[in-house]
Amino acid sequence: MHLVDIIYNPVIVYTVHSRNDGLALTPPMGWLSWVRFACETDCKKYPNSCINEELYKEQADRLVKDGFKELGYVYVNIDDCWSEKERDVHQRLVPDKHRFPSGMKALADYMHSQGLKLGIYGDVGPQTCAHYPGQNDKNGSNYFSIDAKTFAEWGIDSFKFDGCNEDPKHFDDLYPKMGKALNESGQPMVFICEWPLYQLHHKITPNYSAIENTCHVYRNHGDVSDGWNSIISIINFYGDNNDLFIKYNGPGHFNDPDMLIIGGFGLSYEQSRTQMAMWAMFSAPLYMSNDLRALKPELRQILQNKALIALNQDKHAIMAKRVYTDKNTQIWVKQVEPKVNNQWSYAIVYLSTKSIGDRYYISHKVSQLITDTKNTTEYVVHDLFLDEGKEILGTLRVSDNLELKVAIAGACRLVKLVPKY
Ligand code: GLA
Repeated sequence: MHLVDIIYNPVIVYTVHSRNDGLALTPPMGWLSWVRFACETDCKKYPNSCINEELYKEQADRLVKDGFKELGYVYVNIDDCWSEKERDVHQRLVPDKHRFPSGMKALADYMHSQGLKLGIYGDVGPQTCAHYPGQNDKNGSNYFSIDAKTFAEWGIDSFKFDGCNEDPKHFDDLYPKMGKALNESGQPMVFICEWPLYQLHHKITPNYSAIENTCHVYRNHGDVSDGWNSIISIINFYGDNNDLFIKYNGPGHFNDPDMLIIGGFGLSYEQSRTQMAMWAMFSAPLYMSNDLRALKPELRQILQNKALIALNQDKHAIMAKRVYTDKNTQIWVKQVEPKVNNQWSYAIVYLSTKSIGDRYYISHKVSQLITDTKNTTEYVVHDLFLDEGKEILGTLRVSDNLELKVAIAGACRLVKLVPKY
């Protein structure tokens, strides 16, 4: 855009720059109900796990009491199935009267009183994926502005905009319109989109520069589910499309590999560490979808590992690059702070998908993993899972091998190489 547009046409500035609003400069962190609690609405049969205001308040309480909030996990995001099936006489959305009797404003106030934020969910089509009202209307009009204003009145801080029940051909028009309505509501809201995902499924090439200008967070891969197959499929997908996704990740705009399922039923301890490691390497949003009321301490430790959170929140938000793959191994490298004498630090993951055997050594020359370095650089090696990165494994020259013993079946090792002063 030319400077002249900025001066003479403020509307253009307003509509083009929805992400340059200072929101989500590092990947947003919090909790999201979908994978763990899905669309359970039977609160008689499932009083502790149906989608109702108590559920969100109880998870919020655990974010605060168990130390998640102070580490940055501040968003509590409602997903599908929260509203009445019909709008009110003013065409406004109404929270389900039995499950959210106090209303959304009260729930947002509750979150804010705890230093947390509340997110809500909608859909670019006339209905959400679970057939609750969406923001569009079959008759060619839409509720974008009405709903954005309603969310703003309630004090909502984040909005996930799904893509069910609408032709993805129309997304390039509809998503920016909703982004504009959110901007015009005056309430800062992190805008979470599923725009590229549905387009990719329909073989439409997503316009990522429009997407990153409109949304803070955007999903590319299908829904995460509670199991390792889902996690490795997402990791592979990001590896296979590495250059594209690296290009469209940065402060204020993030690719979204979907929720952390650590604390669910599907991952081993080692696989849980790997999901956290890889989401940190991706600079991805960290939305846990688990039951914080029943989280095992060793899993909480993974989710609260300060060295991994710092890696995830690195101010440059450069996504990791997959630099090596074979049948059993993937190696990922991420450029991070601190920079010492103009040399970057690097986080390196050795990920093993081997399916039989004991722990074994993987060994690669540093110069083959990190190409953008001086031959003379010496690195101090920290294991980010040992004492949250405070423990030093040793030092390495560029010509040395980084040799690490790795378990199998989705286990990983994660080290950070910091140039020596
Ligand atoms: C889609 C989304 C999920 C979730 C469900 C809710 O599948 O991709 O993340 O929001 O809809 O119905």
